[in-house]
Amino acid sequence: MISQQRDRDRFLLPSLYIVRELANTVKIKSIQPHNPVIVSHIPQSWQLLGTGNYAAVFIHAEYPDIVVKIYASGRSGWAEEVAVYKQLGYHDSFSQCFQAADNWLILKRLHGVTLYDCLHQGIKIPRQVIQEINSALEYAKSRGLTPHDVHGRNVMMSAEGKGLVVDISDFLDSSPCWAWKDLNKAYYWIYQPLLSWHPLPLPYSILDGVRAIYRVYRKTI
Ligand SMILES: Nc1ncnc2c1ncn2[C@@H]1O[C@H](COP(=O)(O)OP(=O)(O)OP(=O)(O)O)[C@@H](O)[C@H]1O
Ligand SMILES: [Mg+2]
Repeated sequence: MISQQRDRDRFLLPSLYIVRELANTVKIKSIQPHNPVIVSHIPQSWQLLGTGNYAAVFIHAEYPDIVVKIYASGRSGWAEEVAVYKQLGYHDSFSQCFQAADNWLILKRLHGVTLYDCLHQGIKIPRQVIQEINSALEYAKSRGLTPHDVHGRNVMMSAEGKGLVVDISDFLDSSPCWAWKDLNKAYYWIYQPLLSWHPLPLPYSILDGVRAIYRVYRKTI
């Protein structure tokens, strides 16, 4: 808790006025529920950092340590995400929520590349990254949360090779979720023996194809 407060003091936070201006100007649409949202009308000085199936995440040049995550209209989950951050406390593999209102949150920026993009860019993923993500998830469990929807776009590797968990919005959902267990298996059974020596960049068409097949597979077993 003390480190959490220290982080908040250390980071320069944007004024509510400019965050509200972003939230009121940008258009974020969820067209297909299982695919990332579509973003348009981004105001000057903001930049799109990433998208998920529920929300879009922005950075501002003058505030390098924070991101603003905005939920698409009609997509639920904002209140749950705020509640998860309250319950999580501080752990250096997770972000922190500094402020939240309406459909947006100001979060600590985690610097790294998602494991999905590591596969796309052919960046080697060391075993330590997987182990650190596992221990971060154990920490979340110790706080009474249930890691859920931990997939390749929700975990990252920092430049120093640290494992990070970037999206914890579903950690109040206690229904069964196989995503991280299956990714762990795929890492040890497929990635380590076959791909880790010379990681080849994999096009998004292949990665998205695997994602679609995986979804069907998990629905049918
Ligand atoms: N705190 C952060 N620091 C750096 N990048 C972030 C942060 N939060 C999100 N991102 C980036 O933005 C992307 C989308 O954010 P996020 O995963 O939180 O959206 P979502 O819609 O809740 O995702 P999902 O489809 O998994 O539910 C992430 O994959 C990541 O690349
Ligand atoms: Mg996500």
